[in-house]
Amino acid sequence: MKGFTRMKYGYFDDENHEYVISQPNTPLPWINYLGSEAYFALISNTAGGYSFYKDARLRRLTRYRYNNAPLDMGGRYIYLRDNASGAFWSPSWMPVRVKLDEYECRHGQGYTIIRSVANDIEARTRYFVPVGENLEIWELTLTNRRSAPADISTFSAVEFCLWDANDDGTNFQRNYSIGQVEIVPLPGHPSVGDVIYHKTEYRERRDHFAYFACSEKLAGFDTQRETFLGPYRGWDSPAVVETGVSCQSEAHGWQVIGSHHIKLTLAPGESHTIRFILGYHENPKNDKFDPPDSQVINKRIVEPIIAKYLQSTNVEAAFQQLREHWSKLLGIYQVETPDEHTNRMVNIWNAYQCMVTFNMSRSASYFESGIGRGMGFRDSNQDLLGFVHMIPERARERILDIAATQLENGGAYHQYQPLTKRGNNDVGTGFNDDPAWLILGVAAYIKETGDFGILDELVPYDNNPDLAKPLYDHLQRSLQYTLERIGPHGLPLIGRADWNDCLNLNCFSDTPGQSFQTTTSKDGKVAESVFIAGLFVLAARELSALARKVGRESDATRYTHEAQEMEKVTLGPGWDGAWFRRAYDDFSNVIGSKECEEGQIFIEPQGICILAGIGVESGHAQKALDSVAERLATPHGIILQQPAYSKYYLHLGEISSYPPGYKENAGIFCHTNPWIMAAETIIGRGDKAHDYYLRINPSARENIGDLHKCEPYVYAQMIAGRDAATHGEAKNSWLTGTAAWNYVAITQFILGIRPTYDGLQVAPVVPQSWKGFNATRKFRGVTYNIKIERQGPGNQVSLTANGAAIQGSVIPLPTQGEKTVEVVVTLR
Ligand code: BGC
Ligand code: NOJ
Repeated sequence: MKGFTRMKYGYFDDENHEYVISQPNTPLPWINYLGSEAYFALISNTAGGYSFYKDARLRRLTRYRYNNAPLDMGGRYIYLRDNASGAFWSPSWMPVRVKLDEYECRHGQGYTIIRSVANDIEARTRYFVPVGENLEIWELTLTNRRSAPADISTFSAVEFCLWDANDDGTNFQRNYSIGQVEIVPLPGHPSVGDVIYHKTEYRERRDHFAYFACSEKLAGFDTQRETFLGPYRGWDSPAVVETGVSCQSEAHGWQVIGSHHIKLTLAPGESHTIRFILGYHENPKNDKFDPPDSQVINKRIVEPIIAKYLQSTNVEAAFQQLREHWSKLLGIYQVETPDEHTNRMVNIWNAYQCMVTFNMSRSASYFESGIGRGMGFRDSNQDLLGFVHMIPERARERILDIAATQLENGGAYHQYQPLTKRGNNDVGTGFNDDPAWLILGVAAYIKETGDFGILDELVPYDNNPDLAKPLYDHLQRSLQYTLERIGPHGLPLIGRADWNDCLNLNCFSDTPGQSFQTTTSKDGKVAESVFIAGLFVLAARELSALARKVGRESDATRYTHEAQEMEKVTLGPGWDGAWFRRAYDDFSNVIGSKECEEGQIFIEPQGICILAGIGVESGHAQKALDSVAERLATPHGIILQQPAYSKYYLHLGEISSYPPGYKENAGIFCHTNPWIMAAETIIGRGDKAHDYYLRINPSARENIGDLHKCEPYVYAQMIAGRDAATHGEAKNSWLTGTAAWNYVAITQFILGIRPTYDGLQVAPVVPQSWKGFNATRKFRGVTYNIKIERQGPGNQVSLTANGAAIQGSVIPLPTQGEKTVEVVVTLR
């Protein structure tokens, strides 16, 4: 991209599946995630971040201070001190920020390695969570690069969170008095140091605790923060590190930390490895104490786990297992195209980000505090589209969890808590697009797996087992919900909001602090959404196809009919002449029309309506996409709407609360861009589709790091739009529906390799300049090796599978039990 500041802070190491950051002061912290089942950690390129068990709010192990200065305070800190000179530094640069002579951070899938050199001491720390364990390992290797022996002190440091992150950050009158620890040896392992147990609230209603262990004999330890830091001092200059003397402090209330102190003398060239383990453990409720009538933690179950991971061979084996785990997941879909940005995002980073959104939903990132939001109903269903091929069993479980938070009337809790899996009453229901997404999620799951049996699973409504009905019934009620909520123009009523959480047409909020999403001042019987109309058509067509597959012909006919009826309305009051309109407000005035002063055209309905097939034959679709190209496309991606709202409109809600160019007010809301990419392929324009794909592709934006600011290896939710002062600046990286939808757009629509009920479809709509590409896709137990060759400029495909010609573009599942199928595709 010409004319923008050019700056790269690292590079892709594609072979190792890593991004390598080569200087610590990135424009924002560039983070990674550790853990993929229950124990999770966020880790930045300077070792900042925090850890939690399952729920970032309710089971937080360590503290992190959001929105702090300097940036990124709180982490997995290691301090090194040269005991001869008294010099000390952080091998991860933060928090001491002494200049390092060498620095490199490698983020991989589920691990991060930070290597640096200062004072001729090399330090390499490998951080990861072993598969199946509730703990993280920090494996630190120190190497003396001097020609003389080095006398080095190593200090570890974490600050414990008192479990409920919200209470921890607010309820100081109680919390300053409850912190408790135990510091005790690991029985049978005399050569390792005392383990620090954090057991705040264990004496009463908690049966879980945290532990922090070290593989070495200790020169000392600390567990009271102000003793370690010294009064009025920060993490950049702890008194204990400065003096080189630990205090053996035992925390009683105040702020509980864990710090080990290890002294080593390293000969010239000598290396030594120290392992730290930070973990979470839950004891049986009736076996919490040892002896039973004491207040001492029962450690009989946890001690062998700690002992295991203090051993180097076990750590190495666990790391290899993690690598294999990921190469298996990523191996399911691999491509080799003429474009490196496509390759590395599809093969590595986009798939990885989809797994992270599976784990985190929108709860914990550097932009989501882990306190506010649980799992979203619409979000989780869409996220599923990006990971279902990698973890179908867990996708199944996720679908059943989500569906159980649906209500009897077909509506849904907008969010639910991952720990309890129950609907969240604070946010409640009434987001009228929510239920339809369930159909898309379920259809994607069945296409991937062929598991039609899921439709018969009994799933509660409102988490009430007495109200359980087959999943298929849930899908029917999802459509019924929309059909029972139709407004004056025949379009679906919008409720609190549709996909665009900020288009709040029944809110009319004029009081500071009110939630735009939950405040309702109108009865909701007037404002309508063209977006929901498009989504309804898409979902109704999916359900119709699914119904036909399971022999429910009359349902299939009915849903096809409902889809057709809604399509007519969409092309009637939903059509503006050159694009799809967006909505009608509470006064029945149109939104997203040339008649409007601001907000004349919105991206969402153009994308979703065309995905639903609306106007494709009639030419409306092409018109709409040409309008998008003309009015919304920028070099940094496609803007959500234009013109931006320049003032607050009471009847529109949060959308007009943002300054022009940011977030939903004419930001480049990346989630929606792939809908347009997919729509472009539907009308056969592969060049346009891939061009849009590259505009927001983080790898393709790597060399404008100072402008883009966020990580170049994952998508961000938003890139500031043309009206913004910082056009091109990304925000809210990692946890966004952008991950799943871009994955779907590139893998299924542009590269065109798509699971269907009847087999794998191959129908690419790629740039004309591509001579071809190769792909491997594992699908229903079969490996498809696909070779695509272009022989003409268009998108016509002819296919052979294991040498035999195929009719159409769907390769039927092999009947002879073959495990590999060689597919040759000619594009003309
Ligand atoms: C954000 C939306 C988000 C919503 C969630 C709004 O402030 O702009 O993107 O979906 O909050 O509650
Ligand atoms: C982020 C929310 O998580 C998602 O549900 C919503 O669709 C978008 N913001 C747009 O408002």
